[in-house]
Amino acid sequence: MPTNNLTPEQAAAELKALAKEIAEHDYRYYRLDQPTISDQAYDTLRRRNQEIEAKFPNLIRSDSPTHRVGSAPAPEFEKVKHQSPMLSLDNAFSFEEVGDFIGRIKRFLKWPADQDIAFMAEPKIDGLSASLIYENGQFVLGATRGDGVEGENITANLKTVRDIPLVLQGDFIPSRLEVRGEVYMSLSDFEKLNQQRQEQQEPLFANPRNAAAGSLRQLDSAITAKRPLYFFAYAYYSSEPTGDSTQEQLLQSLRQWGFPVNPHVRLCLNQADLETHYQGLEELRPTLDYEIDGVVYKVNDLALQNRLGFVGRAPRHSIAHKFAAEQAETVIEDILIQVGRTGVLTPLAVLKPVFVGGVMVRRATLHNKDEIERKDVRVGDTVIVQRAGDVIPQVVKPLINKRPVDSQPFIFPTHCPVCQTPVTQTEGQVARRCNNSFDCSAQAVERLKHFVSRNAFDIEGLGEKHLEAFYQEGFIKNPVDIFTLHQKKDLLEKREGWGKQSLENLWKSIEKRRVISLDRFIYGLGISQIGHVSARLLARHYQNLDTVLQANEEDLLSIEGIGPGMAHDLMAFLKDDQQQKLIHDLQEQVTVELYKVEQILNSPLQGKTAVFTGTLNQLSRSEAKAQAERLGAKVSGSVSAKTDMVVAGSEAGSKLKTAHALGIKVLSEEEWLGLIDKK
Ligand code: IVH
Repeated sequence: MPTNNLTPEQAAAELKALAKEIAEHDYRYYRLDQPTISDQAYDTLRRRNQEIEAKFPNLIRSDSPTHRVGSAPAPEFEKVKHQSPMLSLDNAFSFEEVGDFIGRIKRFLKWPADQDIAFMAEPKIDGLSASLIYENGQFVLGATRGDGVEGENITANLKTVRDIPLVLQGDFIPSRLEVRGEVYMSLSDFEKLNQQRQEQQEPLFANPRNAAAGSLRQLDSAITAKRPLYFFAYAYYSSEPTGDSTQEQLLQSLRQWGFPVNPHVRLCLNQADLETHYQGLEELRPTLDYEIDGVVYKVNDLALQNRLGFVGRAPRHSIAHKFAAEQAETVIEDILIQVGRTGVLTPLAVLKPVFVGGVMVRRATLHNKDEIERKDVRVGDTVIVQRAGDVIPQVVKPLINKRPVDSQPFIFPTHCPVCQTPVTQTEGQVARRCNNSFDCSAQAVERLKHFVSRNAFDIEGLGEKHLEAFYQEGFIKNPVDIFTLHQKKDLLEKREGWGKQSLENLWKSIEKRRVISLDRFIYGLGISQIGHVSARLLARHYQNLDTVLQANEEDLLSIEGIGPGMAHDLMAFLKDDQQQKLIHDLQEQVTVELYKVEQILNSPLQGKTAVFTGTLNQLSRSEAKAQAERLGAKVSGSVSAKTDMVVAGSEAGSKLKTAHALGIKVLSEEEWLGLIDKK
């Protein structure tokens, strides 16, 4: 029937049938490589679909095949908060470290050391993770990982990835389902893409991962549609029961729903199995048409995974066992000293550019003065450099037999190369530092860059070059100046390099950040050793800025994930007069929000402080602590008037006495288990 004669009902019914039929052909063509109709017949179906959609644009379905070729460009990506954070994995670089990982799991679960734990071992795909939300079997929202808490809405782009089903098939599909996996580009497609780009004199991508990332983050999804992207699913989450109780079954469900799951996953019953599979994959690696950078081991039993929970940014139940780094030989042309945000002097080797593991490497870190001396690395040396995963390339060793005869040992500067302040070394630390933290321009500029960076204040439009220039010209000397920059509007308008529109945009992005979350604020301060994950731990624990400012070392150490080094550096920061003034001045410019801890409904422990003492029989101390924290309680190391309950195992000593003396509620291990069971 000509489209002109269709009623809306007929059009809707036909669009539905076409979506299904085209999806089936796509599956046969792209996934099975077994098309059952000719290209012409397929094109006819698509054209018919397009014609009906053109006539009835309000009937376009969310699973319409036209989404596979992209839609109108977006002005910017919308942010989406992940339902549960998208975490990363801890790494292991040897079988010994894998053994340690398994040992930690057994101790946490209080299992005997000789009892085997089954793991699913899966290739670690080197791409970008994506989160896909399905409602009633329809793909409705897709996001990037972003900072783990908040990602970007790239639904239109993900719809162009043909591996990703727009509608799920099979049984027991939860009404709301989140699927996570990796988007990647194959090696052969990557080569082809770069060849095309070279012919068209466009910049080349460094590696398949960057190419995939660049393709996926296109505001114009029609461009994404032209890039050959693929997907492997590795996890799903749903609050509805699905009947899966192991990672193995979970992967089977994903396959059944229509997701590609990597074929080289294997159930391993013990550590020896893991080792065999790892070696097998290492051999397979050069024959695969996509990059893998290691093997992920996941506790197979999902109930155990749940018990194990998380620490900081990573789950306790999984680890990424990385493949050995790739190496190459090159020459050190120079050694530069960089002064970081906390004053640490880091030597950097300037290399004759060399290709290592698919990336052109021009610089490598030499870590610190002791490392240079230990390895005796010199300018002019031929060296081995290596690169593992995302880490900065490293200089492994010089090849002494290739050393020029007139070579001289490197002399580490005794003064800051930027502000000339004498360099110091704290006892027990390897770092050489410039302590002129407030007046050393290198440190000040680095701190500013950090302050506006993505996980901190995230101020768009204030790039590194601008910050450097603004610092030199005296417009921005410290973070507070960013928020008073507007007062110099007239001067800035006259200054070259900024158009009216870009200044307007800058004011907007600064204004957007006058209200800031506590974790971003803490991270933005650039405290030595406090990364964005530890900043979040601090925010969760203290909840408001004033309490953070009054933190003491003992309390800091009671926070899981905050070690003695961090606690020390944080205390030093908080005690510093100039830092106190900075925080005070910043508070006049910005409002720091109360940190919202997820409220756990009906939890008897929400907001309570608990102390564990003595020996617990059924639980390890770590698991007890993790249980308490999951239910919204704080766990403290010492008993005080602020303690709400003390859980006493056998042979409890002075803490139990104090609890009795202060009249604090005391629970046995059984009572504790009863309490958390009721939650
Ligand atoms: S599981 C809590 N399985 O590796 C994170 N990740 O460093 C659970 N990745 O962000 C991730 N292949 O992007 C998992 N089979 C696999 C994976 C995999 C690649 C990536 C993923 C993740 C990163 C962790």
